[in-house]
Amino acid sequence: MQVRSIVIAAIAATAVAITTSAVVAQSDPIAARRDQMKAMGSFIYGSLNRMQRGQEAYDQAKVNAALTQFVESTQKLPALFPPGSVSGTKPGEDFRTSDKIWTEKPAFDARFAKLGQDAAGLRGKITSVDTLKPAYAEIRKQCDGCHEAYLIKN
Ligand code: HEC
Repeated sequence: MQVRSIVIAAIAATAVAITTSAVVAQSDPIAARRDQMKAMGSFIYGSLNRMQRGQEAYDQAKVNAALTQFVESTQKLPALFPPGSVSGTKPGEDFRTSDKIWTEKPAFDARFAKLGQDAAGLRGKITSVDTLKPAYAEIRKQCDGCHEAYLIKN
C-alpha cells in the first residue's frame, strides 16, 4: 500500500513537471525560441566557427552534436512563432521581428525545414576541417539569410 502511494506520487510529480515545461513553451514562446536559437548559435558563432578557421582543434563529437542540435531545433522552432508573438520591442533590444514572419509563415517555416534537412544530410559527411569549411559556409548562409529577411534593426 505504502509502495503504491509512493509510486503514484512519483508519477504525479513527473506529470506536473512535463505539463509545466509544455506550458512554459506555450506561455513564453519568445524565450523558448531564443533558447533554441542560442543553442544553435553556440556552435555556429562559437566552436564550429573557430574550428573552420583553424583556431580550435577539429572535434568530431562537437560537429556531430551541432548537426543534431540543428535538426532538433529546426523541428521545434516553427511552433514557437505563434501569431502575435512579436518581439524585440523593449528598450535596449537591437532587433525586432518583422511582421513578414506571420504574413509569409509557410516561406519562413520552409527555411527551418531546409536547414534541418541539410543538417541531417551532412551527418557522416563532415570528417575534417576541409569538409567542415564548405558545410559551415552553407549553414551559416541560411542563418544569416533568415535573420536578414525577418529581423528589423531598431
Ligand atoms: C527561418 C528563420 C531563421 C533561421 C533559419 C535561423 N534563425 Fe536565428 N533567429 C530568427 C528570428 C526570427 C530570431 C528572433 C527571435 C526573437 O527574438 O523573437 C532569431 C534570433 C537568433 C538569435 C538571438 C537569440 C536571442 O537570445 O535573442 C541567435 C543567436 C540566432 N537566431 C542564431 C541562429 C543560428 C546560429 C542559425 C542557423 C544555424 C539561425 N539562427 C537560423 C530566425 C531564424
